[in-house]
Amino acid sequence: MQAIVVRPGEPNSIHMRDMADPKMKPDQVAVKMLRVGLCGTDAEINHGLYGKAPDGDEYLILGHENLGVVEEVGKKVKGLKAGDLVVSTVRRPCKVCPNCKAGENDMCSSGQYTERGITRRHGFMAEYYVESPQYLNKIPKAVREFAVLLEPMSVVEKGIDHAFLLQRRLVWKPKLAIVLGGGPVGLLAAAVLRARGLRTVVVGREPKSDLRAQIAMQLGAEYVSVENSSLLDLQKQLGPPDIVIEATGSAKVVFDAMEIIGPNGVLCLLSVTGGSGVNEEPIDRINQLLVLGNQVVFGSVNANPRHFAMGVKDFVTIDKKWPGVMNRLLTNKIPWKDHKSWFTERGTGIKSTLEISD
Ligand code: BGC
Repeated sequence: MQAIVVRPGEPNSIHMRDMADPKMKPDQVAVKMLRVGLCGTDAEINHGLYGKAPDGDEYLILGHENLGVVEEVGKKVKGLKAGDLVVSTVRRPCKVCPNCKAGENDMCSSGQYTERGITRRHGFMAEYYVESPQYLNKIPKAVREFAVLLEPMSVVEKGIDHAFLLQRRLVWKPKLAIVLGGGPVGLLAAAVLRARGLRTVVVGREPKSDLRAQIAMQLGAEYVSVENSSLLDLQKQLGPPDIVIEATGSAKVVFDAMEIIGPNGVLCLLSVTGGSGVNEEPIDRINQLLVLGNQVVFGSVNANPRHFAMGVKDFVTIDKKWPGVMNRLLTNKIPWKDHKSWFTERGTGIKSTLEISD
């Protein structure tokens, strides 16, 4: 089969190559890939900033946002049949930590987990992959068109789920949510928060005429462009938010966001940033605000099967409430043989996908 691979650590090593077809075991299924989503993590891996090849391999098959169709089912597999649409989870457990042993791979504490398409395990930019059913999520046909968004959606579901879990520490009736970043993760977060009935303000750099703003408004959220103003100005205008979701991909914004959380509020950090940036920050002020405001700042990565299930449920709800809105996120459908175009010039769209088969 053909696959898109990189040599992790080596900038711009991405290329397509022939690989042996993966071998299916009796307790696995073979999945034919339909499309993969492209995200900043893929770009960072191709820049040589992130990612690891499987032990003993020189190459890593890239790709973690996935949608495929079951092609062949092993003799011992129950509950899946040929033709089922599936999205695979990304992270696989380590063998040692208590979280992985309990099936909470996304909370691995040993750091020895593997991640498909990212860390020591091949990903989904390939014609086929094989997998155990426990890692596959069945997709209802009704959400097929945008189901490739389920992996980033699971990341958002986990972040919001954990924010609500953390806030069980007090009587919390959140009203105002601010989402920093109008990319796919930001807009998915806005959709989930709107589905939960919160007043939601999406903050981005693009002007109000941009598709990001229009999508936010279709969801009943507000959109504020901060091209020429600061987050503190915004907080003065809107009032203190109960929940802030950071999804800009900029570590600088993370620290700015710590200054705008409301009393007893929570800031959830979802951007995975590579590089080694250094900056001066108003540390006394930030600390004082966090302490006197009883605030929580937490990072959240990856997701477990529970969050994929929540994502599927919310996709159905969101598509009913705001028909067609999720499809609008899929702005650039790229034939997979043209993959290099996205890695060289990222363009201005929201979510790009590589179309592997129909
Ligand atoms: C992926 C997560 C992954 C994280 C860190 C993100 O882009 O969506 O599944 O855990 O990168 O590797």
